[in-house]
Amino acid sequence: MLQIDHLYKNYGKFQAVRDLTLHIPQGDLFGFVGPNGAGKTTTIRIVCGLMLPTAGRVIINGVDALSRQREIKKQIGYVPDFFGVYDNLKVREYMDFYGSMYRMNSKEIARISDDLLELVNLSDKKEFFVDTLSRGMKQRLCVARALIHNPALLVLDEPNSGLDPRARVEMKELLLNLKGMGKTIVISSHILSELSEMCNSIGIMDHGNLVAAGRIEDVMEGVFGSNQLIITLDEGRETAVRIANEHPKVKVESVGEYEIRLSHTMTKQEIARLVGEMIARDVLVTGFHKQEGNLETLFMRVTESEAQEGGTENAAESNC
Ligand SMILES: Nc1ncnc2c1ncn2[C@@H]1O[C@H](COP(=O)(O)OP(=O)(O)OP(=O)(O)O)[C@@H](O)[C@H]1O
Ligand SMILES: [Mg+2]
Repeated sequence: MLQIDHLYKNYGKFQAVRDLTLHIPQGDLFGFVGPNGAGKTTTIRIVCGLMLPTAGRVIINGVDALSRQREIKKQIGYVPDFFGVYDNLKVREYMDFYGSMYRMNSKEIARISDDLLELVNLSDKKEFFVDTLSRGMKQRLCVARALIHNPALLVLDEPNSGLDPRARVEMKELLLNLKGMGKTIVISSHILSELSEMCNSIGIMDHGNLVAAGRIEDVMEGVFGSNQLIITLDEGRETAVRIANEHPKVKVESVGEYEIRLSHTMTKQEIARLVGEMIARDVLVTGFHKQEGNLETLFMRVTESEAQEGGTENAAESNC
């Protein structure tokens, strides 16, 4: 559905996106993640035809998005990472405005706006000024607006930032609803737990590089290639970590106050021996269990090497 081939974007001498190749099939809910400054917004803006790449191609439903922008814009609904200011515009007028940009007639706009406002639960706000809506309502209105021309692809850049937990749940339900309607959805977000609950595929960017992409299970398997083990304990944490670190088939993923998380390729017998050794060396082990990999651990793993190399200066810059 969405094919990105060898995409590059330079801002002057700075390379924000480097040789990005990615395929998102029809009907996917694709989560786009990466640290601040990774290049997500840049990629999204190129896909949505708001910026030209330095090199590379974007193909949407078989159509070259860069040379046939007018045609392609009908296929894309875009929810940007910030909401503009709309003084003196009511919700209904706001939808009318966007509908007319797609040359829809007023009857059509009115009918579709009603349906969309109902879908995003804003039917009772039609006569409200846009600026009086809460942030969550504005985000939902933005989604409704992005759908006015019935695009096949919906692209949302951090739609959940600044939303309270209830609004985030509502946004998640809305996106799952849209996926159920057959839309292909790309969403960038830093809230990994939410993405893992709704997305079926992901792409992780870091410093302009796509470091992992595909179905979540496949990416997990490809990256970890190993199992996850959580050991809970009351005393002897340092000893436990030392023993785990000494084991050739174990990598310590994280250390909490009462638990350590490991990825490993040990057999059952080796796990038993490892835990046995900890107990023998006075670690007060209270339990151990297998854990499916989660998106946070995956994210930390695939983005760790560059972070350790001290390449995070752009993160601070874009956080300001
Ligand atoms: N117009 C611009 N001119 C120069 N550099 C830019 C411009 N826009 C973005 N950049 C740089 O390109 C890099 C990628 O930025 P981008 O906004 O794509 O990151 P992002 O992954 O969306 O980050 P965030 O999670 O903070 O939204 C950053 O280092 C940023 O400073
Ligand atoms: Mg961004």
